[in-house]
Amino acid sequence: MKTLLKQAIQVRENAYAPYSKFKVGAAVRGKSGQIYLGCNVENASYGLTSCAERNAIFQAIAQGEQNLSEILVVADTQEPVVPCGACRQVMQEFGIKTVYRSNLAGTVVQHKLSELLPIGFKSTDMEV
Ligand code: THU
Repeated sequence: MKTLLKQAIQVRENAYAPYSKFKVGAAVRGKSGQIYLGCNVENASYGLTSCAERNAIFQAIAQGEQNLSEILVVADTQEPVVPCGACRQVMQEFGIKTVYRSNLAGTVVQHKLSELLPIGFKSTDMEV
């Protein structure tokens, strides 16, 4: 977890957040042990903004790793930052079980994804 925190804090520096000024970093670990990083990327067309967590997960997919285990998200907040609902849904898709919320002060709170997303939409929910 310490490694995830250190790397997420580093990649957060690269966030492109000129509109919200709210920089976020994320580090996700694959089942292989490899770590993938992401930061938030905003756009003048606000709705196109992409969260740090999803960017980290998509980086893992692009590198060929689809089975993921844990993710850490960090921002400069009083309380550890909270991942949005869309990112929780994407975490579920790739098997993430553990979510760490954190801040720059180094406070880390550990959750099970099932606690943050108790009834996520799954491929089996499309069965007729
Ligand atoms: N943001 C993330 O990157 N992750 C989260 O979990 C919460 C929100 C970003 C999106 C946007 O660039 C900024 O934070 C403000 O919403």
